[in-house]
Amino acid sequence: MEKRRAALRLLPVLLGLALAPAAAPACEPALNGTRVESSRFVLSYQSTPIEVGKHFALDIAACSKPGAPEPESLKVDAQMPEHRHGMNYAAKVTKTGPQRWRAEGLLFHMPGRWELSFELRAGGTSDVMRNSLVVASAPVRFTEEEKRSILSHGPWPPKLVPDPSNRVSGNPEAIAFGERLFFEPRLSGTGSVLCATCHVPYRGFHDGRARGFGLEDVDRNTQSVVDARFNRWFGWDGANDSLWAQSIRPLLDPREMRSNATTVSRFIRNNPPFRTGYERAFGKKPPEDDEEVLVDVGKALAAFQETLVSGRTAFDDYRDALESNDVREMQKYPEDAKRGLKIFVGKGNCGLCHFGPRFTNGEFADTGIAFFARKGVVDPGRQGGIKKLRSSGLTLLGRFNDDPAQATALATLYVEAQHRNFGEFRVPTLRNVARTAPYMHDGSLATLRDVVRHYSELDEERLHGDGEKILKPLHLSEDEVSDLVAFLESLSAR
Ligand code: HEC
Ligand code: HEC
Repeated sequence: MEKRRAALRLLPVLLGLALAPAAAPACEPALNGTRVESSRFVLSYQSTPIEVGKHFALDIAACSKPGAPEPESLKVDAQMPEHRHGMNYAAKVTKTGPQRWRAEGLLFHMPGRWELSFELRAGGTSDVMRNSLVVASAPVRFTEEEKRSILSHGPWPPKLVPDPSNRVSGNPEAIAFGERLFFEPRLSGTGSVLCATCHVPYRGFHDGRARGFGLEDVDRNTQSVVDARFNRWFGWDGANDSLWAQSIRPLLDPREMRSNATTVSRFIRNNPPFRTGYERAFGKKPPEDDEEVLVDVGKALAAFQETLVSGRTAFDDYRDALESNDVREMQKYPEDAKRGLKIFVGKGNCGLCHFGPRFTNGEFADTGIAFFARKGVVDPGRQGGIKKLRSSGLTLLGRFNDDPAQATALATLYVEAQHRNFGEFRVPTLRNVARTAPYMHDGSLATLRDVVRHYSELDEERLHGDGEKILKPLHLSEDEVSDLVAFLESLSAR
């Protein structure tokens, strides 16, 4: 621990050592510390811990080389050569014994390269010895409680379990078939829109737009499909309870792909490569029932999307290093991200909703974003989502759930509509968040900085009267905003 602190606080660079003769020192100061020397003297010092903005003191000893006079007095000063400024404090030097001094009251007021100078006077002339050192800003330390919170955001990736509601989950033939379907425009009513139109692979399966655009503008921001396999609810409003049902939604939406069960199933039946793909994945010919083919297309699309799991991040490496107490690895995580992390698990309360390894508790909340879909049209969020779920034949309670025990259907069975659901949206994962701007269900915030400012200056009046009382305006300083952004940026796979 002590070693780590020393390494973080100062990385002393000994000047002049290279020039010094390799021979044994000409005299031995009475203190074993950092050494500097001139033609007449050898000086050694030890310091109390050096941190930005904290006063520190030096114990100093010197000796005269053979033939050199006794040192008479010592002055200690420091400056930042690159910035051409010195300290704001004058060190007070007191003699503590023969050739021993203590210098007090020194303070480095900013991080960077500082140079300590020791001016020893003897026989009418002075020798100036310098030593430069790099002072890092105060290292971030976490309390035990904060550490527990940090550890709860991992490990990553989680164990991957097949989806019991989808009989082709994890099946390699279905994954290959699903991948083809994902990039196939002929599934759409016009033959022109594909899943990848909005879920663009090189953009983290997002489109970079405020709101999705297929055949027409849609009302919501496209969600990435990376890590979608881990959801309990799908869509910003949770209108679907399975990845396969959610994958059918855009096919049927007139503004997105404007297709239907007949168009999709005819396409599969009448195109040999797709018919073969279907047969390999499902082990039978495409059935006569159009809806059944449509659902199986959804299941193959789901099998493919299940393979999209986000990679490890700088945060994951730090989190694991913290768990195994790997000091060297911990140092690689930038200090500003650590300060941001401290806000995230601390006064920001972010982890209550952005919970666990995926940074989401999978449920719904209101963060004070306006819920107008368009002028005069309200997006009811979760409230509308529950209504759609209840009226859909494609839920886990229906005939297309391949899990005979229906253990997967618990959430759908027990979910309860509540008054506060109006205007609530699903808590998004924060993994890969730097890759999926703009943000929020309506894409109304352009950058992560805007999101953090939103939380910082939250208008409590606009939060629902009956909403949670978790969110309060944080009134962060600009530096704190930057730190929180640096943390959020560290959650994206490299
Ligand atoms: C026009 C753009 C567009 C197209 C085309 C599109 N999507 Fe989406 N996707 C969206 C939007 C917008 C959302 C958020 C929907 C909502 O909240 O209701 C979304 C959400 C999703 C989700 C939910 C992710 C989550 O975390 O809950 C999945 C899965 C998905 N889409 C898969 C697909 C598949 C598969 C296709 C092709 C069959 C497709 N999408 C085509 C725009 C699109
Ligand atoms: C009360 C639960 C809650 C808390 C606390 C909370 N969030 Fe959120 N967060 C959400 C919800 C819900 C959304 C989506 C809101 C919407 O789309 O209207 C969201 C959206 C976001 C987004 C945008 C992600 C995207 O893909 O669009 C970021 C980034 C984010 N939150 C970061 C934070 C940070 C940082 C904190 C702490 C300062 C925090 N959140 C606290 C619930 C919460």
